[in-house]
Amino acid sequence: MKFVVTGAAGFIGSRLVESLLSEFSDASVVGIDCFTDYYPRSIKEQNRTASSERYLFIEDDLLSADLSFLQGATAIFHQAGQPGVRKSWGQEFVEYTRQNIDLTQRLLEASLEIDTLEAFVYASSSSIYGDAERFPTTEDDLPAPKSPYGVTKLAAEQLASLYAKNFSLPTVSLRYFTVYGPGQRPDMAFNKFIRSALEGRSIEVYGDGEQIREFTHVDDIVKANILAWRKRPAPGSVINLSGGASVSVNEVIEVIRQIHAAPIAVDYQETALGDVRRTGGSTDLAAQLLEWKPSIDIETGLRSEYEWLSAQKTLGQADAEEWA
Ligand code: NAD
Ligand code: UGA
Repeated sequence: MKFVVTGAAGFIGSRLVESLLSEFSDASVVGIDCFTDYYPRSIKEQNRTASSERYLFIEDDLLSADLSFLQGATAIFHQAGQPGVRKSWGQEFVEYTRQNIDLTQRLLEASLEIDTLEAFVYASSSSIYGDAERFPTTEDDLPAPKSPYGVTKLAAEQLASLYAKNFSLPTVSLRYFTVYGPGQRPDMAFNKFIRSALEGRSIEVYGDGEQIREFTHVDDIVKANILAWRKRPAPGSVINLSGGASVSVNEVIEVIRQIHAAPIAVDYQETALGDVRRTGGSTDLAAQLLEWKPSIDIETGLRSEYEWLSAQKTLGQADAEEWA
């Protein structure tokens, strides 16, 4: 067996590489990443801890790389992309079309040549729903992204479905709902909130803090990726991966206060452009097709991220701070 992970130095990709290596002792894993400058390389290097003679890491840009390393792949887990809702406006947008749409199309096209391929798993996003028409949102509900980022994630997801329909490529799109846990990107809320607490600064909240998310732990996301290959859902399947509990940003801060066991000040600012008021997905289809349900509750999950960031406090912290 040979697994390919794109975006292997990123938050989710690096964790997935580790899981594949430990769970499948007879498999080889190829990871590729070009260390885009969305956040500092030093942080990605800290996450990229996998080391095994069964693991090959390639540093290259998937938009131009020779893709012959895909040959013989059993499954491709496509995590590479330009993430983040709030930065996707203005001049930055070209990075989103390139890294999310063009790159995915290039990989899908190359995958047609791989006759060993059993799954092409695409990291889609809850952002494709925008302000959803109902909760829990189901996969059949109308996608209406509220950010340019969401538009590019939806376009790539639709491309995956087209390649399934026209060429029977075994694609599965997993719609991740705000992922958190050890290794989380430094632009994301929990990472910024916990760093602020650890450094005695006030937490910056965009809007009134009453926006709701179904935050999903990275270890649950990793498990679902592996199941998306193992369970062989029909080509073109699109599946929500939603964390199981609707929690507001203010409620999250309350949990961080308890873990930190000290007062934390909060500074409420303007609502961020493109920010949806609420996400919450039905996981019925994930249960049916993947036998997956979220297993890590928000307190346990937040504690895991708090402990990771406490341990990292010195390493790479300055870089993260400059970027945030
Ligand atoms: P991340 O930025 O930590 O990881 C993405 C990685 O892809 C980075 O290391 C980057 O260097 C790499 N990459 C980007 N373009 C590349 C290219 N052309 N060639 C090679 N490598 C390239 O982000 P993440 O949070 O781990 O997200 C992974 C995927 O999941 C993304 O596609 C994102 O849109 C999607 N997603 C993430 C979340 C979340 O909450 N983190 C939610 C929904 C969807
Ligand atoms: C996240 C990821 O960043 C996207 O890549 C992903 O596609 C998306 O989830 C998804 O689920 O599809 P987001 O929900 O904005 O996007 O995640 P966070 O950055 O963790 O923000 C959560 C909430 O906290 C948002 O309402 C945001 O505005 C707020 N926030 C964030 C703050 O109040 N302050 C901050 O400093 C950062």
